[in-house]
Amino acid sequence: MTGSDFKNSILEGIPEALPDPKPLNPDINHAPKRKDILNSDEKKLAVRNALRYFHPKHHPVLAREFMDELLTFGRIYMHRFRPDYEIRARHLDEFPHCSVQAAAIMLMISNNLDVRVAQHPDELITYGGNGAVFQNWAQYLLTMKYLAEMSDDQTLVLYSGHPLGLFPSHKEAPRAVVTNGMVIPNYSSPDDLERMNTLGVSQYGQMTAGSFMYIGPQGIVHGTAITILNAGRMISKKGEGMGGKLFVSSGLGGMSGAQPKAAGIAGIISVIAEVNPKAIQTRHSQGWIDEVCSDMENLIRRVNQAIAAKKVTSIAYAGNIVDVWEKFADENIYVDLGSDQTSLHNPWAGGYYPAGLSFEESNRMMSEDPAKFRESVQTSLRRQVDAINRHTRRGTYFFDYGNAFLLEASRAGADIMNTNGEFRYPSYVQDIMGPMCFDYGFGPFRWICCSNDPADLGVTDKIAEETLQKLIEKSPDEIKQQMADNILWIQEAGKNRLVVGSQARILYADAEGRIALAEAFNKAIAERRISAPVVIGRDHHDVSGTDSPYRETSNIYDGSKFTADMAVQNVIGDSFRGATWVSLHNGGGVGWGEVINGGFGMVLDGTIDAANKLRMMLQWDVNNGIARRSWARNKEAIFTLRREMDRTPGLMVTVPYIADDELIDDAVMGK
Ligand SMILES: NC(=O)c1ccc[n+]([C@@H]2O[C@H](COP(=O)([O-])OP(=O)(O)OC[C@H]3O[C@@H](n4cnc5c(N)ncnc54)[C@H](O)[C@@H]3O)[C@@H](O)[C@H]2O)c1
Repeated sequence: MTGSDFKNSILEGIPEALPDPKPLNPDINHAPKRKDILNSDEKKLAVRNALRYFHPKHHPVLAREFMDELLTFGRIYMHRFRPDYEIRARHLDEFPHCSVQAAAIMLMISNNLDVRVAQHPDELITYGGNGAVFQNWAQYLLTMKYLAEMSDDQTLVLYSGHPLGLFPSHKEAPRAVVTNGMVIPNYSSPDDLERMNTLGVSQYGQMTAGSFMYIGPQGIVHGTAITILNAGRMISKKGEGMGGKLFVSSGLGGMSGAQPKAAGIAGIISVIAEVNPKAIQTRHSQGWIDEVCSDMENLIRRVNQAIAAKKVTSIAYAGNIVDVWEKFADENIYVDLGSDQTSLHNPWAGGYYPAGLSFEESNRMMSEDPAKFRESVQTSLRRQVDAINRHTRRGTYFFDYGNAFLLEASRAGADIMNTNGEFRYPSYVQDIMGPMCFDYGFGPFRWICCSNDPADLGVTDKIAEETLQKLIEKSPDEIKQQMADNILWIQEAGKNRLVVGSQARILYADAEGRIALAEAFNKAIAERRISAPVVIGRDHHDVSGTDSPYRETSNIYDGSKFTADMAVQNVIGDSFRGATWVSLHNGGGVGWGEVINGGFGMVLDGTIDAANKLRMMLQWDVNNGIARRSWARNKEAIFTLRREMDRTPGLMVTVPYIADDELIDDAVMGK
């Protein structure tokens, strides 16, 4: 297809004439069939809703076809309307556009749906089993057309993938405002999501899927490497290195697939179990895992050899994680670090595969007999926790890796609680990410080169390294280790071949670092050292973006971890300080109803206007969370906040007084 055919296809939007029906691509991963949740009146409503996108002359054909999709897949994806062109990140100018900012959003959407990047591209799912960009292909086609035609005096409004339309605004306003899965709080159970999603009126946007900010597994490699490295440091005796240490976990999917690569970067041996052969094949072909074992005896032999030789390797076990934990306990294999990254935010619809069932059996059972499947998942979780407990009694450090493992295991009645009613194991945010990163303002800052040219990415890597080298010279001791880790990361990033899809880079940075990096990129664009605009953004999983009591805000101890003011304020604040698009989601990471998260994207085009916006918005985007974490009495955040107030004119934040515990005990107990 030529460039102009591609442009014309986008400008056509929903085609006038019906395209031919499209079979599913057998070579790629597909979403499992979703459970049958609608009664017959609701099924009619789902079909009626889907037909809203099309001229009535097509309704006789489409009504039957959509009903077939509903029965076959449990959702109406509108497969016939999947475009014929390849969906992927391209140079900004290849997208038809009247607004550069809108073209950048098109690039980001396209990357999220690229077959090399997305988990279930035909079903518009980017990662996490149900992290959707759109609910159906009509929404995609219409959104791309709106973006192609819009000016900088309009804003596109998206409700859970549905493009409500373009509304007049002004050039300083965001070009797109995205909400995903926002519902009335009392209607936020998992079945409410299933029902509303099947009706085509709501979707689970995960964090970076429905906000168009996914940059492939690289996004999580950095965070995972930081987590594993710091966990390793935490358990290491003085002077002991990482050599010969073993990390065991599960999942080689969208995000979890980063674990073996990250463990390798941290210098730790890893065994990651994965039940889906296609997921293993993808990661193996990308070079993200070194070896694949489908036989348990062979796995044990290889692990023992690697530990004895202190040889860093990453091994995928083609099978269930429960079997690994149990067998390793029986064989006395000492596991230094353990976690889990099955998709337990989505336990009943393909996120977790129970032990004792084959992959195919599970896929059948979850749609044909959901109650029995639920029982199998819970039995498996109880077994998994029992085996993990055997390891931790011998000294393994186990942590929840933000996939709702502890929460779902507790709901399954597993032996996961302490006598004081708390989880036996910490979340990675409580012990590692919270006090070491988020409370100092460090989070997953990222950028994407809109030329789609690797040479531009190389230039940005160099600029980033130089920028951090300058900053570390003046960094206080409290953050020197973080800065040094991040400098090493950016020095190695090119060599580690992390790019899958768009020319993107992630680099943990604090408010000062993010502003300095963005300013340096903007200047380089103005000087034409970078050939096209750059998008900056971040994962929602960050200092300020997410209120999630079992993950990002699990180290908030003032009773406010079940509030969501921070995430909502964050998005509102970003939207009037210069963000190009903002997004606010229910769910993401740990599950529907369990978290509110938000994020932004901003286009840097080398102008003074962009320089002003980036300074104004990034200082808020980080310091909103620092202020809240400080108010919760987190000492690292109080330190960071004081430092920020010293160097940022106009920043005046309420700082807590710390009360004496003994005095409170006396006051309360004495009454
Ligand atoms: N901590 C973080 O920073 C962070 C970041 C991203 C995602 N997450 C969470 O981690 C989880 C995984 O994310 P993802 O994008 O990789 O999801 P995913 O669905 O793409 O991958 C999970 C993988 O686990 C496999 N699996 C399920 N049950 C298994 C079992 N019993 N044994 C072995 N393999 C099994 C699945 O086949 C799948 O490939 C999600 O809950 C996500 O929300 C955490």
